Amino acid sequence: MPKRLWSVIERSFHPDKQLHHETIFTIGNGYLGTRGTFEEGFAQDSPSTLVHGIYDHAPGMLVPELVNAPNWLPIRITVDGTPFRIITKTSDFMRPPEGHVLGFERVLELDRGVLTRDVLFRAASGNIVRLIFERFASLHNQHILAQRVRIIAVEGSPVIELESALDGSVTNAGVAHWAQDMHVLTDGDVIALGARTQQSAYTLGIASQLICAHPMPVPETDDRLKPAMRTVVQIQPQTEAVFDKLTTIFTSRDVAAPLETALSALEAAAHSGYDRLYADHAAEWKKYWDSSDVVIEGDDECQLAVRFTLYHILITAPRHDENASIGAKTLSGLGYKGHVFWDTELFALPPLTLTQPRLARNLLMYRYNRIEGARHKAQANGYEGAMFPWESTDTGEETTPQWSDVQPDGSRIRIWTGDTEQHISTDIAYGVWQYWRWTGDDDFFVQHGAEMILDTAVFWGSRVEHINGRYELSQQIGPDEYHENIDNSVFTNRMVVWHMQIALRTLDWLKVHAPADHDRLVAQLNLTPERLAKWADIIDRMYIPFDQEKQIHIQFPGFFEMEYIPVPDYTPRTSSVQAILGHARSIQTQVIKQADVVMMMALLGDAVGSHEVMVNNWNTYYPRTDHGSSLSPAMHAWVGARLGLMEEAYDMFHHAAHIDLHDNKGNVRDGMHAAACGGVYQALLFGFCGLQLGDDGPKIVEPRLPEHWKQVSFGVYYRGKRHTFVVKNPV
Ligand code: BGC
Repeated sequence: MPKRLWSVIERSFHPDKQLHHETIFTIGNGYLGTRGTFEEGFAQDSPSTLVHGIYDHAPGMLVPELVNAPNWLPIRITVDGTPFRIITKTSDFMRPPEGHVLGFERVLELDRGVLTRDVLFRAASGNIVRLIFERFASLHNQHILAQRVRIIAVEGSPVIELESALDGSVTNAGVAHWAQDMHVLTDGDVIALGARTQQSAYTLGIASQLICAHPMPVPETDDRLKPAMRTVVQIQPQTEAVFDKLTTIFTSRDVAAPLETALSALEAAAHSGYDRLYADHAAEWKKYWDSSDVVIEGDDECQLAVRFTLYHILITAPRHDENASIGAKTLSGLGYKGHVFWDTELFALPPLTLTQPRLARNLLMYRYNRIEGARHKAQANGYEGAMFPWESTDTGEETTPQWSDVQPDGSRIRIWTGDTEQHISTDIAYGVWQYWRWTGDDDFFVQHGAEMILDTAVFWGSRVEHINGRYELSQQIGPDEYHENIDNSVFTNRMVVWHMQIALRTLDWLKVHAPADHDRLVAQLNLTPERLAKWADIIDRMYIPFDQEKQIHIQFPGFFEMEYIPVPDYTPRTSSVQAILGHARSIQTQVIKQADVVMMMALLGDAVGSHEVMVNNWNTYYPRTDHGSSLSPAMHAWVGARLGLMEEAYDMFHHAAHIDLHDNKGNVRDGMHAAACGGVYQALLFGFCGLQLGDDGPKIVEPRLPEHWKQVSFGVYYRGKRHTFVVKNPV
């Protein structure tokens, strides 16, 4: 398979795309993610390393956030005294003695999780060097980070001075989370930092070693949070000097003494050496791709984009941790403060359920281990059972901010999602149910999954309102967040019916296959006959807004009475229609933020209604949707493909697959869109390929590939056994 279908390449440096590229060139290993900032830094860059689970609530901030860890990347180089920098006309680094960048290329190798940068640089002396930077976060040992710099003397015999540092002075865009009394250590050729978050009191240890001929510690300066080592070497013409920097990192979430552990792990890593670490890392990546790759023949552009989205899911999914989950922006940026949304269970989880079930299980255990937070939220709101938070962090308590950042007019907007976007509890149940169906992991289901499904069902049983002989849900936010606190969101009401159905099926199954656990859960969750009878009644009598005459679902009663805005007229645009109309006005219109009724069709398929109803729904809602959320296009691609609307489906798929690569929404600087990445996989397999899980396993039903595709091949696990499929386009 050609290398180009595995490589994201930046051929020349554009400062205006710097922050976007930092995000997409993130490396990671399920423990941490590090943005693709330059070793030597760049004006207005945003270096960040985010370690799963390290949250902190700084004074004055509305909510806790994932903390930017000390920067392990810094390597500064001078060539004959000229500082090596990516100098551009707009760079404020331009100061004498000035060097000149003659060529630049950056490549993210998706197959191996390695980022390289190759630069040809002329120093003020006239000597020319080629610098090749390479870095990876070991997938084999998640605590090891490795960098190699090769400097080749292309012209002349330059003197190279190289300084390697750690930077503990980092903040989250100005917000300081680390206590300033850091433990700073320089010992032989090793530098290290021991740090502690101010409010949450997590500790972190990071240690780094420069491996080369003559490393020397740099005397402490005012920058005491930036310990460094330095070396000087003269390179003979046409030869190269190689510098390896190895770093280890631990937190108090992993071990009792992170700094000491980092130091001893560093010794072992240095003993293995870069090449060995690289080989182990690459071998682990091969295993990942052997299970997760999808091969598209006939569309190289989408092939690369699909691998890119899978890569980002794989680097962010916790591998050895049942107490961390995937944030909406992965570990690649500070957006959404590292909080976990429904993006995880309905978008990012399915590719893992199908191809890396062990990682999927970790994500679900994260929720299970926080079920007390969900119970607490239900209780605090006057309900029973478990009501999961809309935004979740380490504690499992609701962490959605109640107010937005300050708007251009100085005001703040009330954020209601933490109060009323309650479908999250059912989304988690959906993720559990699908995981169990695909994996057959009965142990998980009996010990953990069933309890999540049942206790969230208890919540809904106490949440529904019995009005005029039917059940209703007032004050909800469905997926379409432009319309807040509406009554009877069809998505939510219909998904609650599904939830009640599977809750009763769960109990039936437990009764037969795990009777003791059935009885345990019935007693523990107080699943009285009256409660179960109510669940059955909700299934029969939940209000599902539907227009009989038009044969369409109604997103919520009153929706069609609002102002109609022809969304397609607002083309071309880079911002959402909501941003164009303004928050206050768009609330009063029929503009929809993201797949809502269409999302329901994706999740429930034929159970939603006849083919005619599905087509009517599509024709009604597609032209009203502005895809203001990155979650939307992939769901439309999935449903569009199922309905045979291939042109729209491909448009939406292409858009979804390139949201991050092409910065389609203009906000990738804040981090990758985890949900869009996971949605692309689902659109491809469940939408185009027609993959379904029948009673006897996975099968392909009515595949519909875009016209120009030849075939799609992939493998998925069903009950521990791998099933491979090749879906061909009829010739
Ligand atoms: C979307 C939500 C999503 C959140 C985090 C919002 O803009 O509307 O559905 O969960 O972003 O990605």
